[in-house]
Amino acid sequence: MKYLLITAALLGLSLTACTKKNDNEIVLGHFASMTGSEATFGISTDEGLRLAFEEANAAGGIKGKKIKLITMDDQGKAEEAAAVATRLIEQEKVLVLIGEVASSRSLAVAPLAQNKKVPMVSPSSTNPKVTEVGDYIFRTCFIDPFQGTVMAKFAFETQKYKKVAVLRDVKSDYSVGLADFFVTKFKSLGGDVVGDVSYQSGDVDFKAQLTKLKSLNPDAILIPGYYTEVGLIARQARELGYKGTFLGGDGWDSPKLSEIGQSAVDGAYFSNHFSNESTDPTAVEFMKRFQAKYNKTPDGLSSVAYDAGKIIIKALESATELTRENIRGELAKIKDFQGATGKISIDSNRNATKSAVVVQVQGKMNKFVTTVNP
Ligand code: PHE
Repeated sequence: MKYLLITAALLGLSLTACTKKNDNEIVLGHFASMTGSEATFGISTDEGLRLAFEEANAAGGIKGKKIKLITMDDQGKAEEAAAVATRLIEQEKVLVLIGEVASSRSLAVAPLAQNKKVPMVSPSSTNPKVTEVGDYIFRTCFIDPFQGTVMAKFAFETQKYKKVAVLRDVKSDYSVGLADFFVTKFKSLGGDVVGDVSYQSGDVDFKAQLTKLKSLNPDAILIPGYYTEVGLIARQARELGYKGTFLGGDGWDSPKLSEIGQSAVDGAYFSNHFSNESTDPTAVEFMKRFQAKYNKTPDGLSSVAYDAGKIIIKALESATELTRENIRGELAKIKDFQGATGKISIDSNRNATKSAVVVQVQGKMNKFVTTVNP
């Protein structure tokens, strides 16, 4: 029995070894929050990526090879992100690393990817520092100086808010950056930031901060955080009697936001990468395929991930030889790529120049409000 088990184990091992050396496959690695309080980020991203790669494989693959995507769960933790990304690089020998959504986790992995010269593509991390790590780090989304400007102008010019307060997550590079960019722009437009207080991801009681902010009587509270905390914050603010509007950024984008926030998030506005009310033909075609595969409408994360997948496919196709270095070079050349989330060009800092949308939460729906071009 023991002998049999050992044989089976050995067989298992050699089988895995075989798959790894399969010359007919292009192995890509995705590190993502598949579980934890940001699980919809990882799951939605994985769904968008898998749809893109499945389409490429169905169309015959790339240079006769099929794309294989290996996804590893980082549980929404920076240390885990670094650990699984290392496994993807060292053991799975991935050609390209894809991830993360959260800027703090992309920042935990980018130095490792840069050091090993593995091209890394984040579909959705918007903090400027991510791609500053080095020339192997790319993103296919806009960055937060733009997103902060979009929301500051929306607040001041469209909504005519004069007094805004900020509640930022000091443990998140994304949250701190977006809060800062918003504040600078809102003040330069002539607005007043009457309060600026903080919390830490994982917190569940925000009453002290909210009591303070409520007493300052702001027209709106900007909460540049992720959906789990945002939902709780909105509810507690309403419980305390705050009647103003909530504003946020792409971190709100989750089907769970309205589940957690319930009616408290109704009427709130946030900036995002995509609206599923888009009538752009590429977007419409993408939504049709996504619906057919997953039987639901895509959120913004699935949409940016699909585009990131398509851009990686383009780079793989254009590379004369499939080396990490060549793919890095091809990613840098992406210009005017027509994606589901708009036209994407990678600039000299390896960021994408793209438009943003502002949406309003209405129950389970995010109602399209406006598109803002860079
Ligand atoms: N932009 C966020 C960050 O950098 C991540 C995010 C993108 C979350 C899109 C939701 C939707 O951390």
